[in-house]
Amino acid sequence: MLDKINALKMEAEAEIVKNQEELDAFRIKYLSKKGLFSILFEDFRNVPPDQKKEIGQRLNSLKQQIQDKYNLLKESLETQNDKSGINDLTRPAFPYELGSRHPISIVRNEIIDIFMRIGFIISEGPEIEDDDHVFTKLNFAPEHPARDMQDTFYISRISEEDSSPDDILLRTHTSSVQVRVMQQQKPPIRTISPGRVFRNEAISARAHCIFHQVEGLYIDENVSFADLKQTLLYFAREMFGKETDIRLRPSYFPFTEPSAEMDVSCRICGGKGCNVCKYTGWLELLGCGMVHPNVLKACKIDSQKYTGFAFGMGIERATMLKYQVNDLRLYFENDIRFLEQFKTSF
Ligand code: DAH
Repeated sequence: MLDKINALKMEAEAEIVKNQEELDAFRIKYLSKKGLFSILFEDFRNVPPDQKKEIGQRLNSLKQQIQDKYNLLKESLETQNDKSGINDLTRPAFPYELGSRHPISIVRNEIIDIFMRIGFIISEGPEIEDDDHVFTKLNFAPEHPARDMQDTFYISRISEEDSSPDDILLRTHTSSVQVRVMQQQKPPIRTISPGRVFRNEAISARAHCIFHQVEGLYIDENVSFADLKQTLLYFAREMFGKETDIRLRPSYFPFTEPSAEMDVSCRICGGKGCNVCKYTGWLELLGCGMVHPNVLKACKIDSQKYTGFAFGMGIERATMLKYQVNDLRLYFENDIRFLEQFKTSF
């Protein structure tokens, strides 16, 4: 009997299984009612009484050994099937995947970086503003049609007919931060203000009710239009490449005089003309101009002593020119297939 016990123990010990069927076969062969252990156990009846104690103990421990072997085989099979590799302690550590920044953040950071290199600092203002900072102090007359240029989301309006400086609204442009800075600081002022702006527009590929701008403001003695032009040329070449050219077209904004819009040469065709630039060779990027003396006065800055320039650009627009993204809605959809395409150090 002892020999049989030893033989069965050795046999079970030597078993290996490669798949679930073999594991099941092991269980049936050794541990089922008609299995080898049960057959051996039947012989127990014939064991002389004086050996029953010892043989009984040996049989018990054999059963436990076979059960342990079964558990071991089962566990190793599960580990093999586990493709995560978590149970393999020798595998290298997880390669943590780095996320990517949103393209709007990338371009905003790049714009900030470029202007900080030439001495601009960052200032911020509230998104919920009053009429005074968004329009009135920027030389928008109460009935001036320029107020219609930007469809405004009002939070509370004092009078339905006329706008009041106390009206509370979502800022329609970051030019409002200019006013806050000029009210709080003395020239020289050299600042940029990135932020979100809101306009009551139907959402389409070319317009959105929420978007981002960067405002720039430079005020000092003897600041001229030439300074504005050179600053913007520097910016355009840093942002879009050394070969980029700019052109300034006369325009109108209530808060600048003279006012201009700036185009950059199309980087797809190098200015020769293609369907991106509608065969003009130029792409519109921003509005700018010399700060209107009325704005300086409204902010209690001596307009005899100081002059300044200002500019404002849409970050979505700059991103579109840089990466040729031609549908604004993509920036808000958070589609990972879109976002993953922007990997950069910024
Ligand atoms: N605030 C203008 C807009 O939202 C952009 C702009 C134009 C800003 C001219 C300026 C500027 O500072 O000088 O359309």
